[in-house]
Amino acid sequence: MGFSSSRVGTSPRAISIRLLAIAAVVVTSLLTAATAGASGPCGDSPWCDSSLSPAKRASLLLSAMTPEQRIGLLAGDHAALAGADGTHTGAADGIPALGVPDFFQTDGPMGVRQGKATSMPSEMSLASSFDRNLARSYGALVGNEAKLKGNDLVYAPTVNILRTPLWGRAFESMGEDPFLTSSLAVDYIRGMQSEGVIANVKHFAVNNQEGNAQGGSRFSVSAQVDDRTLREIYLPAFEAAVKRGDVGSVMCSYNKINGVHGCENPTLLTQILREEWGFKGLVLADYGASKHIDTGLRAGLDYEPFPFVDFDGGENLTPAQVTAALQAGRINQGDIDTAVRHQLETLFRFGFFDRTPFVDDPSRINNGAHQKRARRAAEQGTVLLQNDGVLPLNSKRLGSLAVIGADATRYVNGGGSSDIDPIEFTSVLGGIQARAGKGVDVSFDPGNDLEQAAQAARGADAAVVVIADASSEGSDKPCLGIDCGAEPIDGMTIQRDALVEQVAAANPNTIVLLETAGPVLTPWRDQVAAVVEGWYPGGAAGSALARVLFGDVDPGGRLPATFPDTEAQLPTSGNPSSYPGVDNVADYSEGVLVGYRWFDKKGLKPAYPFGHGLSYSRFAFRGLKVRPDRRGAGARVSLKVANVGDRKGIAVPQLYVKMPGTAKRVQPPRQLKAFKSVKLKPGASRLVRFHLGSRAFSYWSDRRSGWDVAKGCYRIEVGKSSRSLGRGAKLAWSSASGEMRRGCGS
Ligand code: BGC
Repeated sequence: MGFSSSRVGTSPRAISIRLLAIAAVVVTSLLTAATAGASGPCGDSPWCDSSLSPAKRASLLLSAMTPEQRIGLLAGDHAALAGADGTHTGAADGIPALGVPDFFQTDGPMGVRQGKATSMPSEMSLASSFDRNLARSYGALVGNEAKLKGNDLVYAPTVNILRTPLWGRAFESMGEDPFLTSSLAVDYIRGMQSEGVIANVKHFAVNNQEGNAQGGSRFSVSAQVDDRTLREIYLPAFEAAVKRGDVGSVMCSYNKINGVHGCENPTLLTQILREEWGFKGLVLADYGASKHIDTGLRAGLDYEPFPFVDFDGGENLTPAQVTAALQAGRINQGDIDTAVRHQLETLFRFGFFDRTPFVDDPSRINNGAHQKRARRAAEQGTVLLQNDGVLPLNSKRLGSLAVIGADATRYVNGGGSSDIDPIEFTSVLGGIQARAGKGVDVSFDPGNDLEQAAQAARGADAAVVVIADASSEGSDKPCLGIDCGAEPIDGMTIQRDALVEQVAAANPNTIVLLETAGPVLTPWRDQVAAVVEGWYPGGAAGSALARVLFGDVDPGGRLPATFPDTEAQLPTSGNPSSYPGVDNVADYSEGVLVGYRWFDKKGLKPAYPFGHGLSYSRFAFRGLKVRPDRRGAGARVSLKVANVGDRKGIAVPQLYVKMPGTAKRVQPPRQLKAFKSVKLKPGASRLVRFHLGSRAFSYWSDRRSGWDVAKGCYRIEVGKSSRSLGRGAKLAWSSASGEMRRGCGS
């Protein structure tokens, strides 16, 4: 597992290895520079000619390498997985004789897991912003800190789809929709790579559960998934990362996909990734995910950062094991060279040889500016789920405010390899106290004694109950209630649902502030005045959430995942063969009906639907125009978004397409195909345009083994959530003329 402190490399030895490594790099660079005159850090070897293509340079360098040197590049040499300062999650020694620098990697995605770092709100929060610009600046911030901590590659972003909200890594996902995840992942990657570090999209593929006491461990479960579901739900974000994000690397996953492990799956790693999508980068294995040297290399695995562990007795790409496999004829030199070539080509492409090595010097990080960006991101990701008018709080009129719940005092984040140690942390309680000012009497009660908490709430003008869940990589939640899997806080056990009910009964102005990984059950929602979802808000939790509560900023978030009314509504509920699986096989029998697609198809009423989120202002969406795009199966859509309220606010128009289905090809009633986050002053309006390419109207055809546009009628709807949509417009696809037409006839 990517987070156990037992796999520590933070010992003085590890740190001195790191220092030696830096010294070696510096000495090598100096030597190379000395021999190379003014030719730059790479030197004057033939592969240092930056006018040559990365492929050519990789070939030249490869041919200068001994067989041992090539084998040496297949695996990392040091791992420091506890995340201490001065260490790296993964590290590979370079080849000083050839001017190959050391190669350092770190965990992400919500910050750099290497000593203290800016703790960004969770990826789930990022997804809630529905804001591609934010994704870009978020990725750039993490990339910048990774670089200034001496890393060349970041294991981020995570783009696996939230199939069940029980997933232990729900917070690390961008929710249940492939289009939203794809769009934000592309910008995250572009932002990160604009800093010169290599992004690493993970975990390829269909890695949607950690497992629970009933089984389904991520290390061994096989996701049994049909081609159409794979292509329409689980692969699009990886495809977009490659084709549009130009991602430099991919992490293959532990789990099996249709019986074959992610890191030895030729269909995924070679056929789809390289041959179909044109991936030119590096495929690396998750921690302990390499299984067999021969099948792995031949399937398309290039590099194993952590060859020190294996969870089921498999092989690693260590020099000794690879050499033995070569001698035994299980692999040949070509298998090794292909993998090394992929690595070198990627490194050349990212300028790794042409710059001085990034230096681990966190003093150069602009902490103040980064903390501000973390705060803004958390504000944009916060979702106002319901509000009877109690919010925003007005500090001039509020006499007293009771803050209830020990979660208000602690840093709430997800466990595992994306657990970031924040440079700065403001608690929710601290943030509220600071923002409320002297005029408001802010009291606090931890909430472990229900009577006492109700008493604290009773006299106050309003009460904010802060409740968080517990979620971690390595294990799924046992159930969806907010207390499922929770640990006591400072020895106190909090019964969160009961706490909300007690406080709500004592104070009509009760506001629930959730800090959860993903959707949870909200059985008390009809009893409270407002519900706010802050997710795992990162280091700026308190300041961000206080600013939202007091209306300094509009909550910008919309739900990237459905909040079910009951756990029984989930497609996987009560069906162990589907989740967590039986005999290590999880049958993805719901097919493409994941998340809101399932709720819509089955006519289920969720607690809060996908795309839902309120503003403090009001918006009108008017004048929807849908025109066929004459260049094939596409359409141009425009609408006017007007702020008709009296405050600044954020509108998020969302466009959904209903595709024609058949008895055999079930289609979800609607699928998100475009969105935009629009900030508007009161009275202001903006024309929002969307272009829908042919992919927005396509389904995966098993018969053709490719994307196809079905004959028939398409409905395009724009609205404020998947369940709040305007009248919409229709288009028909005529395969005979190869074009979209307005309307669908009678
Ligand atoms: C996780 C990865 C992580 C790696 C290194 C694994 O257990 O699944 O996401 O990057 O550990 O910490």
